[in-house]
Amino acid sequence: MSLQTEFAPAKLNLALHVTGRRKDGYHLLDSLVVFAGIGDHLRLQPGPLSLTLDGPFAAGLQPDEDNLCLRAARSMGAEVAIGLTKNLPVASGIGGGSADAAAVLRTLTRMGYGLPDNPERLGADVPVCLLSAPARMQGVGEIVTPLPAIPSVPMVLVNPGVAVPTPQVFAAMERRDNPPLPTIPAFSGLDDLVGWLRGTRNDLQPAACRICPQIDQVLRALQDSGAALSRMSGSGATCFGLYDSADAARTAADALSGRGWWAVATELAQPLRRR
Ligand code: C5P
Repeated sequence: MSLQTEFAPAKLNLALHVTGRRKDGYHLLDSLVVFAGIGDHLRLQPGPLSLTLDGPFAAGLQPDEDNLCLRAARSMGAEVAIGLTKNLPVASGIGGGSADAAAVLRTLTRMGYGLPDNPERLGADVPVCLLSAPARMQGVGEIVTPLPAIPSVPMVLVNPGVAVPTPQVFAAMERRDNPPLPTIPAFSGLDDLVGWLRGTRNDLQPAACRICPQIDQVLRALQDSGAALSRMSGSGATCFGLYDSADAARTAADALSGRGWWAVATELAQPLRRR
């Protein structure tokens, strides 16, 4: 089979409630997850298992055996040469590794391989990234319920360039028994979505801000740039702002890049597209 290409969109937790903890230490989550119009790009073709990296954030990764793309391919017993263009910052709360691993799994199923059991073992976000469409994510990530389309809202993603280790953020969290998300309605526009989001949180945000104070600065800068809502995604440090126009998002992204941060204007809830 010839070269296969796949898009691995950035994952965003619009809301993330930590509702409990399992005996093995993993946390129970209830999260509204959406995907952005930007992401990494993958190329796969039959051959001895290998990984080649390029793109603006390639230097943050090693093509060693722990790499999630290679672990995903090994979990399917696949002999495949993988090319990864890394456009998203590494260890930044927007799915990165899980999105890439899920894109490898999706592509390998097209190439005739069967999905592994328990893909969440590769990473908690892998099951929702396999879907790459708006979803409610529960359990430790293994329960994924697709949601109706969410309006395509303009947004800006900002990362201050600090990698925040996920286990450290979970460990620094004070409350582990928060209430679940309120019922998720079918949203009709930005105001409706923002109104609902105001009744929700990212329970990891206060802990991540204590570990990495730059996150607070990013959130304040997003708010000052006119975002209708700003919040951290996952365990950070990437934050998102939602805007009422694509122009406002672009202007904000330009201003925030000027502060030395990675800042991109994109849009929320794009359908998964292959490039
Ligand atoms: O599965 P993933 O590699 O994303 O998780 C990294 C770490 O984050 C885990 O080893 C665990 O310490 C923590 N984690 C957690 N509860 C989750 C997901 C992750 O405690 N639901």
